Amino acid sequence: MMSCTNLEETRRDFPILERKIRGKRLVYLDSAASSLKPIQVVEAIRDFYLSEYSNIHRGIHYLSQLATSRYEEAREKIARFINANSPEEVIFTYGTTDSLNMLAYSYGLKVLKPGDEILLTVMEHHSNILPWMRISSITGAKIRYLDITDEGLIDYERLDEKINDKTKIVSIAHMSNVLGTIVDVRRIAKKIHEVGGVIAVDGAQSVPHMPINVRELEIDFLAFSGHKMLGPTGIGVLWVKHDLLDDLPPFRLGGGAIREVTLNDFMLLDPPHSFEAGTPNIAGVIGLAAAVEYLQKIGMGNVRMHEEELTGYALRNLDNLGDSITVYGPKNVSVRGGIITFNIRGLESNIVGSLLDSYGIAVRTGKHCAHPLHQRLKIDGTVRASIYLYNVREEIDYLISTLEEITAEVR
Ligand SMILES: Cc1ncc(COP(=O)(O)O)c(C=O)c1O
Repeated sequence: MMSCTNLEETRRDFPILERKIRGKRLVYLDSAASSLKPIQVVEAIRDFYLSEYSNIHRGIHYLSQLATSRYEEAREKIARFINANSPEEVIFTYGTTDSLNMLAYSYGLKVLKPGDEILLTVMEHHSNILPWMRISSITGAKIRYLDITDEGLIDYERLDEKINDKTKIVSIAHMSNVLGTIVDVRRIAKKIHEVGGVIAVDGAQSVPHMPINVRELEIDFLAFSGHKMLGPTGIGVLWVKHDLLDDLPPFRLGGGAIREVTLNDFMLLDPPHSFEAGTPNIAGVIGLAAAVEYLQKIGMGNVRMHEEELTGYALRNLDNLGDSITVYGPKNVSVRGGIITFNIRGLESNIVGSLLDSYGIAVRTGKHCAHPLHQRLKIDGTVRASIYLYNVREEIDYLISTLEEITAEVR
């Protein structure tokens, strides 16, 4: 559990929280878009550049070997963080979007045929829709969508109807970036495995906020981004279950990924190196490992508990504001992450966002890269306040009292 003292200490690791925005103390409630960075991550990157930097996997000189071992140690750390079977299952990418594109273009292109089906849900982020649309148009496979209930939960009752012998891939967000819904991916994994298909999980919103154990979840692929979990931008992961690694023809080819090249042919290295052609984001990997270390020190169970508590607190207080505020997503915090999405009657989400900004409160507004979900809910946009391990009750109180002022003005 994160005590008040722990929280104060944690907040001191994020100096940006001391910043004044428009004369007010910053209240950062936009971590679902990108998290803040602790000093430890910034220092790890700085130290690496200033005293250990070199390209990796290429040189026999001291620094190259040092940088290579730092890079590979980071892979091991990240593999342990998600309980992968081995570090070889961890492929470094540029982020979730890149991971999902890589998956669609490699596995999708390889296995999908006309008449096959890809199952998504109506609440996916565009990054988990568009790559499949492209692959569907190339292969002739059809995309189907699982609907949500009025409360914003997956309509599990319809799984039997949506998953059949033609379903080859289910690709689904573990946590919705709009509704905060936590999806029972294990239940879906069991179902898709019964018909011989695979499940890819978009962990962009879940990996930063709750304990993740890929083996317990019984999933096949997991995509996530460093920048949403205290790490730097431009680094992400595609985790691939070991027995599927050989089914993925690497999608990006070039230097660093090959064993031998002749004028007519080439022989690839073994995974994961075969997937990491070109000079990767080495410092990004070092930064992500430092972020993982930071999260592990706090404990992912504690991160989740803290966010569950704050989310429940925020939802109860929003409820007290009456019917001028509509909150979306599940009411039960055991199936909801720290994403609180709402609208104020009579005000466009962007206006609410600007008003909150004038109080120093950073939230995200609009459609959050989830147009189909907004169409499904028949709304033009929403305001999203998202929390992380550095947020405190006082910030929720400030958000609520500010919303109270705003709603009083439009009443
Ligand atoms: C659920 C979900 N999937 C995918 C993404 C894309 O992540 P990135 O922009 O880091 O590639 C996001 C980012 O907001 C997300 O919330």
